[in-house]
Amino acid sequence: MSDLVPAWWRDAVIYQIYPRSFADANGDGIGDLPGIRSRLPYLRDLGVDAVWLSPFYLSPQADAGYDVADYRTVDPLFGSVEDARGLVADAHDLGLRMIVDLVPNHSSDQHVWFQQALAEGPGSPLRARYHFRDGRGPQGELPPNDWPSIFGGPAWTRVADGQWYLHLFAPEQPDFNWEHPAVADEFRTILRFWLDLGVDGFRIDVAHGLVKESGLPDIGHDTSWHLLDVGESPCFDRDGVHDIYRSWRAILDEYPGERIAVAEAWAPTLSRVAAYVRPDELHQAFNFSYLGTAWEAGAQRAMIDASLAAMSAVGAPTTWTLSNHDVVRHTNRLMQAHEGEVAGKRPAAVDEAAGLRRARAASLLLLALPGSAYLYQGEELGLPEVVDLPPEVRQDPAFHRATGQDGYRDGCRVPIPWSGTQAPYGFGPEGGPSWLPQPDSWAGLSVAAQDGVPGSTLTLYRDALALRRKVFAGDDLTWLDSPAGVLAFERGGDFRCTVNMSGAPVTLPVPGSQLIASGPITVEDGVAVIPADTTVWWSL
Ligand code: GLC
Repeated sequence: MSDLVPAWWRDAVIYQIYPRSFADANGDGIGDLPGIRSRLPYLRDLGVDAVWLSPFYLSPQADAGYDVADYRTVDPLFGSVEDARGLVADAHDLGLRMIVDLVPNHSSDQHVWFQQALAEGPGSPLRARYHFRDGRGPQGELPPNDWPSIFGGPAWTRVADGQWYLHLFAPEQPDFNWEHPAVADEFRTILRFWLDLGVDGFRIDVAHGLVKESGLPDIGHDTSWHLLDVGESPCFDRDGVHDIYRSWRAILDEYPGERIAVAEAWAPTLSRVAAYVRPDELHQAFNFSYLGTAWEAGAQRAMIDASLAAMSAVGAPTTWTLSNHDVVRHTNRLMQAHEGEVAGKRPAAVDEAAGLRRARAASLLLLALPGSAYLYQGEELGLPEVVDLPPEVRQDPAFHRATGQDGYRDGCRVPIPWSGTQAPYGFGPEGGPSWLPQPDSWAGLSVAAQDGVPGSTLTLYRDALALRRKVFAGDDLTWLDSPAGVLAFERGGDFRCTVNMSGAPVTLPVPGSQLIASGPITVEDGVAVIPADTTVWWSL
C-alpha cells in the first residue's frame, strides 16, 4: 500500500465495521474477522479509504466487546490474532487502511487485573489500578460519591469485602485508575502490539473519560445525563487526559505511514473537543455536535461553520458523521421529533421512504464538506433503524438497566443484508442464525439487490465517493445566498452543492452541469426544480 499520500487522513472516508453484524463466516450467527476479510473487495469498490473496526478482543461481551478481558487476544467469537493479521494485510493489498478500536477507560471485570484486585482485598497495590473506595454511611452502605453510570443506576458496585468500585458504564466495565503508572505503561505496550501487527491507527473509546478529578468529588446536581449533555463534570474531559494523548502521539509518530488516532470525546464545546486534536495530540475527533444537529438549514450552516472554525484553529481536519453503533440510524433520527438529540431516545417508526430521502440528502451534503467523513456500515444501503426488536432479543446493557441514557442501541446493530430473499440474507450461511433478527423487508435492501441499480442508495454512495476523489481539492467552503431553507456552497471555484431543507420544492437557476443528486430533479430551460430533502452536486 502506498505511503506516499501525505496526510491521507485529512480528507479520508472511513467506514465503520461493527464486526458482530457485518459478515459471519463460521455460521454461528455472529459476524467475524474471516467474514470481514471476505468482504473487503466490497469496501474497495465502495470507494472508502479506511475501515474502523469496533472491538474484536477477548471479552465476555457484556457490552458487545467494549468490555475487554485481554487487549492482545482476539475473542474466539471473531477469530484469532492470525485472522487479524491477515485482515490487515489483505486490506493493505487492496489499498485500504485499517483502524482498530482501543478501549482504555475501562476493562472487563474478567480482566486479570480486576480479578487480582478483587482477590487481593482492600488496600492492596493491585487494587490501585482501578478505583476502589470505602462507601459512605455508617456501614459504608452508600456509594462513595453521587456519580451515575451512563447506562443507568449508580456508577459504583459493592464487592464482597465491602468496598465499592467505579464503573462509568456497566458494572462489568470497571474504570482504570489512570493515575497508576502501570496503567499508562500497559496501554503504551498495547498500542505497540497492534501497530507492530500493522494497523493504521486507533479509535479511542471514551477518550474524554480516562482522567477523573482527583478525590472523585460529588457532581452535586441532577446526575441523569447523556454523554453529550455532560457539561463541566468531575468525571469527564479533565485536562490531564491530554498528557496521555501526547505520549501516544509520540508513539504513533515513531511508525511509518502516518498512523492516526481518532477520539471519541464527548466534550461540552467544540473548542474543548478541538483540544484533543492539537498538533501534538490525536489526529481527529468525532464531531458529535454535528451529528446532533437538526435537519434545518440555519442550524446546519451554523454548525458546519462552527465545526470548521474550531478545528482549523488547531490545524486539524473537521470530521463529519451521521450514524454509528451507538445512535439511531439517520434514516430515522433525522425524521424524529427530537432529531436534535444524538441518542438516548427510543427510536420511533417513521415513514421509511421519506426517511430514506432525507438520509440520502444528508449523506450527500456530508460527503461534500471539507474534512474527513465517517460512514457506518449499512448506511450505504439506506438501512432503517429496526424499531420493533422484541425485548427478549435485545442485548444492549443499557436497555436492560432500564433507566440508561444510551439505551436502545440494538436497532442500529442488526446484521447487514448481502444477498438472497430470506434471512440471514447472506450475512451467514443460508438458513443460518443471526444474533439479531433482520426484518423481512430487507431483501430489497441487500447489496445484491442494489448492486449496479441506477438510483439505489448503494449506487448513490459509490458514485459520490468516486466523484469526491476527483472533484475536491483544498478545504475551502464559500456559502452562497439562497432562498430560505436552502443551503448552497461552493468549493474550489468549480463545485457547488445545493441542499433543499425547506420542506417544499424550490426552483433555482441551473448553475452548471449536474454531477449527482440524492433524488430526481427536473432541469428545463436553465431552471432546476429541486424537491424537498434533496441534495445536488454541480460542476460549474
Ligand atoms: C463508547 C462506545 C459504546 C460503549 C461505551 C463504553 O461510547 O461507542 O458502544 O458502550 O463506549 O465502552
